[in-house]
Amino acid sequence: MQSLPRAFKAISQNNLTYELVPFPLKELIFIEQIPCDVFSKARGSYAKVLDRGTAINNQSLRDLITAGVVHTYVREREKSLVVAAQQENLRSNTRSLSIGDPFEKGRRQIHLLTINLKFLYEDPTDDTQLALQYQGTRSLAHFLINNIKIHAQLYFDFSKQKHHYIFAQPMLSSIFLVGVLKQAKIFSDKEVESLFITSYFKDIGMSAIPQEKFDEIELNVLDKKLLYSHAKNSVTILNGRIPLGPSYLKLIENHHAFSIISNELDMYEEGHDEQLLTGFETIVISLVDIIAAMISARPYRKATTLFNALNLVKDLISDHYPQEFKLLVAYFKNFFTKGQE
Ligand SMILES: [Fe+2]
Repeated sequence: MQSLPRAFKAISQNNLTYELVPFPLKELIFIEQIPCDVFSKARGSYAKVLDRGTAINNQSLRDLITAGVVHTYVREREKSLVVAAQQENLRSNTRSLSIGDPFEKGRRQIHLLTINLKFLYEDPTDDTQLALQYQGTRSLAHFLINNIKIHAQLYFDFSKQKHHYIFAQPMLSSIFLVGVLKQAKIFSDKEVESLFITSYFKDIGMSAIPQEKFDEIELNVLDKKLLYSHAKNSVTILNGRIPLGPSYLKLIENHHAFSIISNELDMYEEGHDEQLLTGFETIVISLVDIIAAMISARPYRKATTLFNALNLVKDLISDHYPQEFKLLVAYFKNFFTKGQE
């Protein structure tokens, strides 16, 4: 027969198994006081690593990660407390984005948008989360347009944080997009802002696919179909819910004009349609997305070099769109040369 303390421990562990849901430590970044208990799992059992009310900062999170705390959990019924804290952080940073040190404010906005994007993917019908994400994205667009010089610094800082690529990819490609559009000198700041928002929200239709599926090399047929239709699903999710005009929604619908998903996830290329390439905006949104994806690692492949990514782009467009190709090469070479100085 088990001793009483051992029996209680077993019951408590059993309860935790049902109560806990994964919540990565890095998504607690910028929270000053933990609103609920946080657990980790080691050698098959759960242990509390942070008590509700504990004051934390980047260093204490780093210390936990260094100590080997990798997989962390919160009680499912309390997860909304952490979500609310990160929503409030995003709300407050959005309001004060232009005040203070630009790099610090910019990096906070980028991380907070990405963390909150994950919450939005968990429930894309949540109007509050969508409106918050939209406001935050719009302010970030304005900020990036006015702070071109720190794009590379923000990019390298953001890449280090290693958010899941599904949530990082729209941010990375949209940062590049602002730089390319500004370099092209043919768009007003208002247009660049709208195109940034378009680019950032273009993949929200992927929320129909569970996150863990994106770590697999091969998706099943149903998931492939969902992935293939994500551009259309993005339009369905956004239409009438955020203030983006029909021409921008059309851009979202066509953003896989060059079918990166065929390269990314071994998709079939049915439906590839040259007619979709209606303009400079479509080409640039599509191609910076391809380049940003190729030069970032995925769970199932390594990152490609910038040289190889630009070579692929050369094959795709240099015959038909030589000016656009030149612009992309000049922008990316400059970005990575300056960023690593
Ligand atoms: Fe996409």
